[in-house]
Amino acid sequence: MARNTVLSLAKKVGEGHRVTMVTSYDYTMATLVEESGIDMILVGDSLGMTMLGYEDTIPVTLDDMVHHTRAVTRATHDTFVVGDLPFGTYQGSPEQALSSATRLMKEGCCQAVKLEGGTRVEAQIRAIVNAGIPVVGHIGMTPQSSNAFGGFKVQGKTVEAARRLVDDALAVERAGAFAVVLECVPSELAAYVTERLTSCFTIGIGAGADCDGQVLVCQDLLGMTTGGFKPRFVRNFAQVGQVIRDAYHDYAAAVEDGSFPAAENGFKIDASVMDEIREV
Ligand code: KIV
Repeated sequence: MARNTVLSLAKKVGEGHRVTMVTSYDYTMATLVEESGIDMILVGDSLGMTMLGYEDTIPVTLDDMVHHTRAVTRATHDTFVVGDLPFGTYQGSPEQALSSATRLMKEGCCQAVKLEGGTRVEAQIRAIVNAGIPVVGHIGMTPQSSNAFGGFKVQGKTVEAARRLVDDALAVERAGAFAVVLECVPSELAAYVTERLTSCFTIGIGAGADCDGQVLVCQDLLGMTTGGFKPRFVRNFAQVGQVIRDAYHDYAAAVEDGSFPAAENGFKIDASVMDEIREV
């Protein structure tokens, strides 16, 4: 199989198929995603929480994103990889956005970048697209603005807010993004936005089944989160966290009772060598 491209992804959507995307932040997981045939990987700045233990995405740096994006792209040959631009690396100006996107592409070796915001970052998206870098927009509940939203809340529920969301989607499309993430948007509104956009496909997370594709955070999808809170839009497709906990528990028990390592896990030496050693 050849690597997915902006053209093959748009073709898939145009033919009525849904696009699949999942987050990944490291080589091992990206290898598994690649082998599963998922279309796109997002190296999301959600790695601030899932990999680095921050409370939110605000502290994530461009260095962090380059480091993790490069680990993922070392593992991928067919999967289309999108690197996330973190907070404070694009909002300032189109020049800042282009410089950050260029670094993530050159050093992270990804195929596209993602950034949050609609009308307020239209000029930034245009500058990046004009430099030949594919862009994925991200509107609705944009985690980098969670402080301004007063928390992680569903967006676009009033007439005014829904109009703003539609305007944001049209701005992202006008600026040349080839896809846009709709996060925590009422399903009917997300379906309407998906219908309105013509050159930009939608990828939903908490935005219903009528988007052109879906994205989930890897740890949510695999059932690896800790702390007990599970957002409504998440489905655990496995309980990998429990499998891992059980494996660590069994390993510790086997070490403690001496059943690991077993004879077959060790290396042999000629008896004559040991005889000589013991004689010394
Ligand atoms: O950073 C991330 O993982 C994201 C997804 C939630 C879309 O932006």
